[in-house]
Amino acid sequence: MIAMIKIEPSLLAADFACLREELAKVKKADYLHVDVMDGRFVPNISFGPSVIAAAAKVSPLPLDVHLMVEEPERLIPDVLAAGQGKIDCITIHWEACRHVHRTLQVIKNFRIKAGVALNPATPISDLKYILPLIDRVLIMTVNPGFGGQDFLFEVVPKIEDAANLIASAKANCEIKVDGGIDRQTAPLVVKAGARILVAGTAIFRAPDPGEAIEDLRRVAAGLNNT
Ligand code: DX5
Ligand code: ZN
Repeated sequence: MIAMIKIEPSLLAADFACLREELAKVKKADYLHVDVMDGRFVPNISFGPSVIAAAAKVSPLPLDVHLMVEEPERLIPDVLAAGQGKIDCITIHWEACRHVHRTLQVIKNFRIKAGVALNPATPISDLKYILPLIDRVLIMTVNPGFGGQDFLFEVVPKIEDAANLIASAKANCEIKVDGGIDRQTAPLVVKAGARILVAGTAIFRAPDPGEAIEDLRRVAAGLNNT
């Protein structure tokens, strides 16, 4: 029996012209994934605290904020204020932050979950030093910056390595994956050890996003591979 899989739609793929309606379509998900991009850490710019505030206002879901920004520590207070009590987790990038440990302590001091994201080329070896501080590791299965990219199959062994590291450390840390997740790739990442699946295109660009969420849950649990 495969553990419960959580589904996290990525706001980036929603139609911003009708955010309220878009978010109503995904209310049966577990979390809402919110991608903040600064045009420096990643080539793209997405949105910041004002859109987080709008999402917090109209979505019933806990918000999971993925900070693809340089010096993420500078943005944390604004993100928390915008979230109006709905921020469940803030995830920073290992590669974007000089003092990862200190920044994770800052996040934990706000009594929310803390996550660390790893780009496809970043090894997991240093993770062991911060495992006691993090609730989630976000393994990027595309290079961050854009939705709708092809899944990088070469990252799957890293998910397995992270699962082994977490198990051997007996750490309480969930593995999340982000990028190119759909009904074909979901079973692979779950088999490797992922328990939270972020999906933008596969949910918001589906004819029925609510049904796409349920479909991802089914295929991720190995219940329906057709
Ligand atoms: C990419 C973002 C993702 C993106 C995923 O940098 O972090 O969250 O929205 O989009 P899809 O699911 O379309 O690959
Ligand atoms: Zn993301």
